[in-house]
Amino acid sequence: MSDKDISSTLIENRQFPPAKEFTASARLKPADLKALHKHAADDYEGFWAEQARTQLHWKKPFSQILDSSRAPHYQWFNDGEMNVSYNCIDRHLDKHADKTAIIFEGEKGDVRQISYQELHDEVCQFANSLKASGIKKGDRVVIYMPMTPEAVIAMQACARIGAIHSVVFGGFSAESLRDRINDAGAVMLITADGGHRGGKIVELKAASDKAMNAGCPSIQHVLVLKRTGHDISMQDGRDIWWHDLVNDQATQCEPEWVNAEHPLFLLYTSGSTGKPKGIQHSSAGYLLNAVLTNLWVFDLQDEDTFWCTADVGWITGHTYVAYGPLAACSTIVIYEGAPTVPDYGRFWKICEDHKVSVFYTAPTAIRALMKMGDDFPNKYDLSSLRLLGTVGEPINPEAWMWYHKVIGKERCPIVDTWWQTETGAHMISPIPGAISTKPGSCTIPLPGIIADVVNDDGESITEANKGGYLVIKKPFPSMLRTVWGDDQRYIDTYFSKFGGKYYLAGDSARKDDDGYFWIMGRIDDVINVSGHRLGTMEVESALVAHPRVAEAAVVSRPHEVKGEAIVAFVICNGERPVGAEAVAMVKELREWVGEQIGAIARPDDIRFAEGLPKTRSGKIMRRLLRTIAHGEEITQDISTLENEGVVLQLQGKA
Ligand code: WTA
Repeated sequence: MSDKDISSTLIENRQFPPAKEFTASARLKPADLKALHKHAADDYEGFWAEQARTQLHWKKPFSQILDSSRAPHYQWFNDGEMNVSYNCIDRHLDKHADKTAIIFEGEKGDVRQISYQELHDEVCQFANSLKASGIKKGDRVVIYMPMTPEAVIAMQACARIGAIHSVVFGGFSAESLRDRINDAGAVMLITADGGHRGGKIVELKAASDKAMNAGCPSIQHVLVLKRTGHDISMQDGRDIWWHDLVNDQATQCEPEWVNAEHPLFLLYTSGSTGKPKGIQHSSAGYLLNAVLTNLWVFDLQDEDTFWCTADVGWITGHTYVAYGPLAACSTIVIYEGAPTVPDYGRFWKICEDHKVSVFYTAPTAIRALMKMGDDFPNKYDLSSLRLLGTVGEPINPEAWMWYHKVIGKERCPIVDTWWQTETGAHMISPIPGAISTKPGSCTIPLPGIIADVVNDDGESITEANKGGYLVIKKPFPSMLRTVWGDDQRYIDTYFSKFGGKYYLAGDSARKDDDGYFWIMGRIDDVINVSGHRLGTMEVESALVAHPRVAEAAVVSRPHEVKGEAIVAFVICNGERPVGAEAVAMVKELREWVGEQIGAIARPDDIRFAEGLPKTRSGKIMRRLLRTIAHGEEITQDISTLENEGVVLQLQGKA
């Protein structure tokens, strides 16, 4: 795609300045923000060094700030030593040992509160258990767990001993789990018997067993948390119950002091080609932007209760659940289940019951809950809320206004935060006490983040509202360090487009007259379903792995609630299925993709044809497929198609 294809149609002019009362008690007031921007502009490295010195605890201070000698593998604060878990927990114990760190609510309503001291003790016990099971610094540990405090404890325990975790979302299938375990070369899997979601049990141990049976040769032990208590099988010698292991362990565990650049975690995410890639993050640089954005963007203060609804299987659940808010000594809420159990009021009931003050969720959730009407939120007392956030995809102004009026009662600023798995933390977002918001815009870059919109030649686009490539022009502390095991893919994906100069985000964007950024969508073959990234290639590979499928092309179409829906065009071996056979085949293929990747990747529509529209050089005409998927009139020239009839078939007209 070239920048000529990136056109913008949406113009939204409403503005919402921060309320005076909010600004009066906010951490960052307009003058503070101005000073931060000025510092970053005058002395970029000095700015980050000061933040790193004041926001993190260092066992050994760093003397070097940014090291570009291996660019684009940038390194930050490289000769410093620290520990992420110490920064998230131990350093608060002096004054805040009794402060609640985690308020947990299970889907069935069970509630548990954990203080910072208790969190410390549990993390230490589990860290000692990991060591007792032979886990060493640098080992990879895969975590495949329900959304429980133990998921955070497992992550923190890995960080404490310098093991590199890779969390796999519990909704991913056994196949996906196996692929990630093997790519990471993990020696341990931490899972649970199951989790509660949507009134059902998510069979995590059964899926883990299936992954093991399919071949995970590097795994030595599987640790199993008892959560649901239902029957599962345990394999002698390999599988160990969590509670059996932690029982006798000491509640002290000296942190492993690691180099600032020591990898903290890998998190697999979709790209346009090949299998999901293991995004590798550092320790200090990652934690720095994590803690700063929790303070700057979420304005977290001592009395706040922060609920980010993301699962720890996604980057949002890393930076705004497991690490950042704890490093900021906040109280977080963790909820295990679905927003619809027992009804669509669950989120709002949790906000009332636990007096949530800062609430962060995805546009897809907002749209789904908005559809159910105002009665659900209106049943609950939402007066504890003071700040709202969104992440994961562009929010449409209608959903933004509903969030603003019905949830925030026109009192709470909304922070629309643009960032990615790769950036580790917010990049472009309002500072709630200092920046006016506009529905649908993530506003302007944070201090120290040099984001811009450029054309094909890498030149800044100065014309207002003209679309281009979203780039970040200088390295920043929390950026990914590489793709695990594939440095070349890291360079090709993120740095080759502009000759190594800029980080290419993969999104298109425009800037309006005020310099506000508006994200317009992806420029690659990544689609965003319910805020979750999926590569169209991944879904295509899953489809063609089915014995009846000869060829498949996957595109997206807009979806009212999910943002984007998946449309698959499928060519079968043998006769094209029609009628009842087609209906049965659609069902089978949807289930198949669910097993290959996970339920989120199941296509919404599947259409069968005798061939795919291709150019003479044999390239699938994806743009045409998109037009068909959107149900729009075809304006492209299709006269060069070998078989124009397939277009009618794909449209469902023949
Ligand atoms: C999209 C999620 C518009 C974008 C944190 C990005 C957004 C991708 C926003 C990253 C936003 C994220 N407005 N689009 N506020 N936030 N995106 O890695 O396309 O799961 O590239 O990280 O989500 O998705 P990821």
